[in-house]
Amino acid sequence: MSTQKAPSPPTSNPRLVAWVDEIARLCRPENIHWCDGSQEEYDRLCQEMVQSGTFIALNPEKRPGSFLCLSDPDDVARVEDRTFVCTRTREDAGPNNNWVDPDEMKATLTGLFDGCMRGRTMYVIPFSMGPLGSRIAQIGIEITDSPYVVTNMRIMTRMGQAVLDVLSDSENFVPCLHSVGAPLGPDQTDVPWPCNKDNKYIVHFPEERSIWSFGSGYGGNALLGKKCLALRIASHMARQEGWMAEHMLILGVEAPDGEKTYVAAAFPSACGKTNFAMMIPPEGFEGWKIWTVGDDIAWIKPGEDQRFYAINPEAGFFGVAPGTSDSSNPNAMASIRQNSIFTNVALTPDGDVWWEGMTEEEPERLIDWRGQDWTPGCGRPAAHPNARFTAPIAQCPTIDAEWDNPQGVPIQAFIFGGRISQDMPLVFQAFNWTHGVYLAATMGSEKTAAAAGKVGGVRRDPMAMLPFCGYHMGDYFDHWLDMGRVHPEPPRIFRVNWFLKKDGKFLWPGFGENMRILKWVLDRVHGRAHAVESPIGWMPCRRDLDWTGLDFSQEQFDELMTVDREAWKTESLAHEEMFLQLLERLPQEFFLERQMLLTRLVRSAPKWLPPHP
Ligand code: OXD
Ligand code: MN
Repeated sequence: MSTQKAPSPPTSNPRLVAWVDEIARLCRPENIHWCDGSQEEYDRLCQEMVQSGTFIALNPEKRPGSFLCLSDPDDVARVEDRTFVCTRTREDAGPNNNWVDPDEMKATLTGLFDGCMRGRTMYVIPFSMGPLGSRIAQIGIEITDSPYVVTNMRIMTRMGQAVLDVLSDSENFVPCLHSVGAPLGPDQTDVPWPCNKDNKYIVHFPEERSIWSFGSGYGGNALLGKKCLALRIASHMARQEGWMAEHMLILGVEAPDGEKTYVAAAFPSACGKTNFAMMIPPEGFEGWKIWTVGDDIAWIKPGEDQRFYAINPEAGFFGVAPGTSDSSNPNAMASIRQNSIFTNVALTPDGDVWWEGMTEEEPERLIDWRGQDWTPGCGRPAAHPNARFTAPIAQCPTIDAEWDNPQGVPIQAFIFGGRISQDMPLVFQAFNWTHGVYLAATMGSEKTAAAAGKVGGVRRDPMAMLPFCGYHMGDYFDHWLDMGRVHPEPPRIFRVNWFLKKDGKFLWPGFGENMRILKWVLDRVHGRAHAVESPIGWMPCRRDLDWTGLDFSQEQFDELMTVDREAWKTESLAHEEMFLQLLERLPQEFFLERQMLLTRLVRSAPKWLPPHP
């Protein structure tokens, strides 16, 4: 439908019509456009952005239907210090969130949004997180003044008129208000990436289930279905309603005899989550297949049969480009061959894209992410380290046949892993649900040079949810425990660590070889794999893993599976730091689990190893 000053809304939903009207009066846009989600609408917006200089059309022979966008250099990532969870009390948001009183925050935001869309079009985007009409899905409506957001939301969500049809007159939607915060004066020409340099606010009101985002046009700050709705708001909803919104990939493993098992896995950033979701089984695993359901977020609801059913609320990948290559992840590379939007990567002379790690040899000449000439050795990265691709998930060669099934897929295991170079074994299974929740809650990752703070220290990132949990982390742990209290057979819980190092070298080859670990996980789930009881959980002996096609000695295996009692005592004492921060709301079970762990570590031998055959 066309853009008019005040077109009649394509819905009669009273709450929606009233809200759009109220926001239009506050933001005072030049025009209002209700998005229908059609290809024609998408193409038109892309063409308009090519004309305005926001998009560069890529060479249709190299990268059909694709565009490059270069952001403002000050607007390149999620802004965690400008992200707020405004519950009625500070305690409910917890020490894991920035908090401001909701009334005070509303007053601040109302001031900022007043007239903020002058000279721009206000787009109304109806979207569904999850298959349309699924009992696990949720509907959101994003109002934005950014056509970049509209085109990205069309890839990342189910978007448009069909969503309004499903919503009908229901009040059950999450209003998501977004502005780049850059009104245009009558004679002012626009810039390719408008944003607000002075004020950025990414604000969640979990109790009224709404989102207000001001000043940034980038990623999770602006595509409000993703981290804001699907994690922060949804985690709060999930606790109230008895389900789970998690920062997890979902994959299906198909065995040669056709048996299919689904698992969900949480890893903090920079731990190869997308590669794991699209893994290619190694030599020796002919006939095995990994199918991708999602690479970032899982919504999980117990069904009437008590199994835990998961959907991927998203419909696209918003993946980190640097490091992605035909050798690290050919399935991701195939997924972005066409119909994709690239943000902050470099442009090749023949109109294609490039980033660090894409090819072994660097191109001779590029336009970098800041729009400047780039040559190898010039001392600047060609792509921003947080450069992204936005691509339809259906383009993934390993897309699972059930990815769009409104019922979801039954999850049988949860896998948690961080990046730890010492004393964290390759794989072990929790003794039971409570122990597993403790293992997931105390998970951490070593700080890399890219993160603030000292390199080498461990940043605790419970369930990889630290920046995404929309309420007090202690209550979140209790909600996890509750899922096991209420449901008789929750998924089995495992810890993995692909990143052990000796003399600066990785001990485990990683990538497709992770399939060997995954196979043991499945075999445990199906009750057919042996394991031994270590002080920290159930562990495989070397003979319990399938080594077909890989030469891996007992000595190498022992290095990966040793439990150093002293190191683990130190590790369990370090859990105290997080406990103290969350003390008021930390479940009692956690103190008991920690005590039991310490008790199991008190033995004479300094090291524990799975027995040899
Ligand atoms: C992401 C993140 O962008 O976790 O997915 O930061
Ligand atoms: Mn993520």
